[in-house]
Amino acid sequence: MINNQIKTFEEYQQAYKRSVEDPEGFWSDIASTFTWHKKWNTTLEWNFEEPNVKWFKGGKLNITENCLDRHLKTRGNKLALIWEPNDPKERFVRYTYRELHEKVCQFANVLKKNGVQKGDRVCIYMPMIPELAFAVLACARIGAIHSVIFAGFSAVSMADRINDAGAKMVLTSDGLNRGSKQIPVKRVVDEALQTCPSVEKVIVVERLGWAVNMVEGRDVWYHDEVKDVSKECPAEEMDAEDMLFILYTSGSTGKPKGVVHTCGGYMVYAQYTFMNVFQYEESDVYWCTADIGWITGHTYLLYGPLLSGATTLMFEGVPTYPDMGRFWQICDKFGVSIFYTAPTAIRSLMSGDIDNVLSYSLDSLKVLGSVGEPINEEAWHWYHTHVGKERCPLVDTWWQTETAGIMISSLANVTPIKPAHAAFPLPGIQPILVDAEGKEITENEVEGYLCMKFPWPGIIRTTYGDHERCRLSYFSTYKGLYFTGDGAKRDENGLYRIIGRVDDVINVSGHRFGTAEIEDAINHNVHVVESAVVGFPHDIKGQGIYAFVICKEKPEREDYLRAEIIETVVEKIGKIAKPDKIQIVSGLPKTRSGKIMRRILRKVAEGDTSNLGDTSTLLDPEVVDEIKAGAL
Ligand code: WTA
Repeated sequence: MINNQIKTFEEYQQAYKRSVEDPEGFWSDIASTFTWHKKWNTTLEWNFEEPNVKWFKGGKLNITENCLDRHLKTRGNKLALIWEPNDPKERFVRYTYRELHEKVCQFANVLKKNGVQKGDRVCIYMPMIPELAFAVLACARIGAIHSVIFAGFSAVSMADRINDAGAKMVLTSDGLNRGSKQIPVKRVVDEALQTCPSVEKVIVVERLGWAVNMVEGRDVWYHDEVKDVSKECPAEEMDAEDMLFILYTSGSTGKPKGVVHTCGGYMVYAQYTFMNVFQYEESDVYWCTADIGWITGHTYLLYGPLLSGATTLMFEGVPTYPDMGRFWQICDKFGVSIFYTAPTAIRSLMSGDIDNVLSYSLDSLKVLGSVGEPINEEAWHWYHTHVGKERCPLVDTWWQTETAGIMISSLANVTPIKPAHAAFPLPGIQPILVDAEGKEITENEVEGYLCMKFPWPGIIRTTYGDHERCRLSYFSTYKGLYFTGDGAKRDENGLYRIIGRVDDVINVSGHRFGTAEIEDAINHNVHVVESAVVGFPHDIKGQGIYAFVICKEKPEREDYLRAEIIETVVEKIGKIAKPDKIQIVSGLPKTRSGKIMRRILRKVAEGDTSNLGDTSTLLDPEVVDEIKAGAL
């Protein structure tokens, strides 16, 4: 069995020391515990200039054999996946490792039958139903590259991602359940595909039983296709550095970029971090509430747990339906022992009646986790006290789509925990703080820009179709370093606290958006001349979206215009990127060279206009008074 688990603080210190002194030996030992068709020739080859990072070069494997086949002998009848539907009255479904293996093989055969081959890109736009998990693993089984798009994105966003990846197929469903609402999904796909010439086939999974438009020759129902396929599908042999998946994420400029992860390194890093951070034990029931459309769902709902032979729970619904006790009811129902969620969910549940938590026993819980954004101390304590009953270690896990897995976090019951601190780096991770010039800050009790000086197996390999963009986004700001885009503090004992993004990325309820991306959407509205978007502190979402908008003419009804602008953003990106506040202005604070001074807009959005700093270099200083006076 693969374990790779550190059990004591001393072991952590030893592992950390070794991982720095002999990174290749360290990771090579861990990688050796997996199933490979052929062992690698070179453990690591790297430079951060191009960048070029290759782990386990020459190694041959298939990640799904490590997720499924290798467990069949010892855990064939153990539960692999528990699926809980949106509506508590609908029955849950459970799959043992043997059953999941069959489902994945069948789905893989359906893909093959419909023309998918190794290296093809397959776009998955599906709700949180078991078929989504089968679909992801089925792609990996046959060496197709999956690109999962969160099913809340708009048709325009989907089309951009499909075209960027040149996807050949889309996997989707008729519709989805979200709390009390039912949402048509296939309709969004149809709209997107009007501008996606690369897509040849669409496979539709039935969830709601709705009649949907099926394009002849292009669209097929999954339940028809699966009828006569075999339950066995040999796994395609992949090179360690072959692409496993693309996942689009926002940066500070331009359209979302396709972050690329590869088979070998991703596998090793997902399993190692899962086992160690959560200290998973064989009888645990593990639940990560993230959607598979985000990296957290990829690594810690699917791959990490399955690679470790764990029982992982997948939930279709939302934390507030049918009431605010839904998460806790599910924990009791399945005896969840490890629970991993986002601060935004905690903050939203905190605002409800405490009885929503207190009416459940939560006795099965052992470990709690937090991910996606900084967790404020109030939320940390509420979660620790009322959910964890002060008995469960609460690990604050810092990482990114680009890092594939957790980078800085306490290891439950092993390393120290401090509220609202991600604490220590995992073995193999070498963070440093630098100042604005890129000079390393070596002392403690400091604040700086968070970078990494050495590669780990899960590091981003490239941005799909545009390697230079990868270099510019992550490896060019500070020479020889991977720049995270986050600012961080290090306390007197060397524990890290992440402050948040220092670039033009806003983190709304744990979802990343580039300000440029939202501005671009707003500017599509016919009435809009120009806009500037900044984040502001929001009680539940962490950050909210504040838009300053210049219009062609002064609108008669500002409320109508606001509604229209919101509509435009929903159409271009999706509901999740709706601005919270829209202020109509006659000008923006610009320097003489035409650059918007976002610093000033951020202060206004934060409601702190007492000290706006130096505004003397502005082209038109009066505009600041107008903006201040009209602040929302
Ligand atoms: C933020 C999500 C503070 C951070 C896994 C990072 C966090 C961005 C934490 C990545 C945390 C994530 N504490 N901030 N524990 N976890 N972040 O790519 O700003 O969706 O750069 O990955 O979320 O977001 P992404």
